[in-house]
Amino acid sequence: MTLTTELSHTGRMAKRAAGFQPSPVRAVFDVSMQPGMISLAGGNPYLPVLPMERIAAMASDVVARRGLEALQYGSGAGTEELQALICQVMELEGINTSPENVQVTAGSQMALELVTKLFCDPGDVVIAEGPTYVGALGVFEGFQAEVAHVAMDNDGVDPDRLQDVISGLKAAGKAIKFFYTVPNFNNPSGISLSLGRRQRVVDICRAEGVLIVEDNPYGLLSFDGTLKPAMHSLDPDNVFYLGSFSKIFAPGLRVGWVVAPREVRGRLQIASEATTICPSVLSQLVVEQYISSFDWRDQIAAYSAVYASRCKATLDALAAYMPEGTQWTSPSGGFFTWVTLPEGIDTDQVLAAAIEAGVVFVPGSAFYADGGGSNQLRIAFSYAPEDQLTEGVKRLAEAIRRV
Ligand SMILES: Cc1ncc(COP(=O)(O)O)c(C=O)c1O
Repeated sequence: MTLTTELSHTGRMAKRAAGFQPSPVRAVFDVSMQPGMISLAGGNPYLPVLPMERIAAMASDVVARRGLEALQYGSGAGTEELQALICQVMELEGINTSPENVQVTAGSQMALELVTKLFCDPGDVVIAEGPTYVGALGVFEGFQAEVAHVAMDNDGVDPDRLQDVISGLKAAGKAIKFFYTVPNFNNPSGISLSLGRRQRVVDICRAEGVLIVEDNPYGLLSFDGTLKPAMHSLDPDNVFYLGSFSKIFAPGLRVGWVVAPREVRGRLQIASEATTICPSVLSQLVVEQYISSFDWRDQIAAYSAVYASRCKATLDALAAYMPEGTQWTSPSGGFFTWVTLPEGIDTDQVLAAAIEAGVVFVPGSAFYADGGGSNQLRIAFSYAPEDQLTEGVKRLAEAIRRV
């Protein structure tokens, strides 16, 4: 009886519902919880680095002093003070914008949803790096947008290839809505767009009338403290900038933002209000308190030091244990490295063998919309401690050999 009812409901769903597929990262979540399992799958920040007691005091203080505001509905765009503080955070990467250009969202995931909702009709094309963030693919599929990938090398997306993809799509009569990019310590590849290429990519997109959506949750997590200028700083009117406190503070607060070109800001706010009425005021006030009364730059340095050491342990283990012919990226920040196995080895099959061996990762095909990445995989080094990363990579290498 239940089954029949469910089936008939499924049949009545909107066409876009077919695009709502479970995230491959979430799919391995239950497996990663099994006792003894080492997870190289989830890109979770390592929250034990946070001084929890101080944060507890901040949260308590917010409710005690400003509870009537914190627990009430608030402005659709976000609190004015947080909008201003976000501008200070963005200054670190060369962005000079005013608070009213900032729309606060429930994480940058929501910002990505809003921008896609605003621009994409079914059949429109989004250009994205290959590989790209799996959560972005989920959003694009949900709005029935087509995804065209541009390959990356160790300097990020190749501007000539981007130009070719744009020209090819235009020649085929496609409507390109934007180029979605994670230019710093890319999820999943760990690669950053080189300084030299940034201006060219920005110039090509402007000349071709293609918006850029710059998604930058990891940019401040540079291992040696070197920061690259945001693409938004190079062309503020053509680049939407997506930022987040999830990786530089804590994802549970769900506070992110989007800086939109002036012309679309109003519509973006209306779209946001239709989704959540207003971003959580309580979370915003906690973030305000954190940024204004705590040395958040030191906290980012503390996070980055942990990730740098975990990245090194991972790369050392890859060098020690991986079969010949395997390649991987050497990130200088962020959470991930991207492993390429010899052609013909299917990482979906490797995953089954790896789970048996006690390690879990996300197969490369999750990060492509076109079936690419079958001999690739993502390793997240952000959460597991060094000894587990080493053991995890060893188990993974054994599983690869077995397959
Ligand atoms: C590239 C990228 N964009 C966006 C997000 C979403 O982050 P949040 O919604 O927590 O800000 C993530 C999370 O892992 C990510 O890796």
